[in-house]
Amino acid sequence: MQALLASLLGACLMLLLFNATADAQSSVRPPDSAVTVEGGSPVDGNVPGDALGNSSDAELWRSVRQGIEGNVSIPDKKAGVLVQSEGENWRLLRNGPFFDYLGLAMLGTLILLAVFFAIRGRIRVEHGLAGVTIKRFSLIERTGHWLMALSFIVLAISGLNISYGRTVVLPIIGKDAFGPLAGFLKMSHNYVAFAFMLGLAIAFVLWIAQNIPNRSDVIWLLKGGGLLTKGVHPPARKFNAGQKIVFWSVMIGGLSLSISGWALLFPFEHGFFGDTFSLLARVGIDVPALLGISAPPYSVIQEQQFNTIWHAAMAVLMVCIIFGHIYIGTIGMEGAYDAMGSGDVDLNWAKEHHSLWVEEVEEAGSRERPTASPQPAE
Ligand code: HEM
Repeated sequence: MQALLASLLGACLMLLLFNATADAQSSVRPPDSAVTVEGGSPVDGNVPGDALGNSSDAELWRSVRQGIEGNVSIPDKKAGVLVQSEGENWRLLRNGPFFDYLGLAMLGTLILLAVFFAIRGRIRVEHGLAGVTIKRFSLIERTGHWLMALSFIVLAISGLNISYGRTVVLPIIGKDAFGPLAGFLKMSHNYVAFAFMLGLAIAFVLWIAQNIPNRSDVIWLLKGGGLLTKGVHPPARKFNAGQKIVFWSVMIGGLSLSISGWALLFPFEHGFFGDTFSLLARVGIDVPALLGISAPPYSVIQEQQFNTIWHAAMAVLMVCIIFGHIYIGTIGMEGAYDAMGSGDVDLNWAKEHHSLWVEEVEEAGSRERPTASPQPAE
């Protein structure tokens, strides 16, 4: 009896096994419509009859190389692009001539300033110091200036390290020191950016009214601001035309740096370049055609690539302008630094460089605020 049960069970198991094997085999069999060679299956996996398939590997990989986008099931849809083709152009530009030119622009500016200093020397207060001062910038104005200035200097140093550190600093201090230093500077760059934006906003609110161009600016510019010729002092109000150029460069450049920097801090969320180019195209300015690049819309990765290039170019332009600004505010001109140091400048300095402003202050002082008149220096 036991032997009978065992053989029945065995037969059932054999049947199950046989069915499973048959299923597995049927799932790998070619479909009925499959083409087979005479009496059998395709030879060596080749398409029978030497026919070409309707898709070629070369074309497929060419499309991938040119950035074709496929579908991915993961949340990061950017991964659907296997090869982001424009990235190669971006890399070649960034690692190639672009940063060389930016570096040359900064070096060139420093050389020009050194040559100017060698020829012109320090611009002195021609009539000598009066020993009497006049209030030029209030505490809030100086606080706004230094918040903007010091944060810009930190951003410039840390930003230059991001761009040139591996080429210039790494070989000097070695990997062990460069790693932590570069990490610290990168974090500083991210956070100090907010202090710069605040300083920029304060300076904008405090000084915009005095930086609207007027007729005296034209005369100032025509006379080269008196910078080139001794004894020439074109009249100017609180800010002369040169300072207005610095002011507007800092405001427009600073805003542009802030926007592109923001997009780098919070990546893949903005389409500023596509939007701007489309807007400019409406007024007949075809920026992509001028630059020889594809027209919008751009992928979020392309937007990031534009951002890094623009951010670096604007930063270097501003660094060059600020080199000139720091030069004239320190060694280039006697008495200038006091304006942002103590806030009080020598009366003769003020009369030589901002004669119309001194008249305004003296007039206002004699009319309304007798205390605003020049004070003897301590
Ligand atoms: C060590 C660095 C700096 C020094 C010594 C310095 C010095 C000065 C001085 C003396 C003035 C007043 C000039 C006057 O009496 O009319 C001034 C104004 C100004 N500074 Fe600076 N500055 C420095 C850095 C910066 C930076 C980094 C920025 C911006 C990123 C900046 C932006 C301005 C602006 C917008 C003004 C008003 C317009 C002008 O006078 O050109 N400064 N600075």
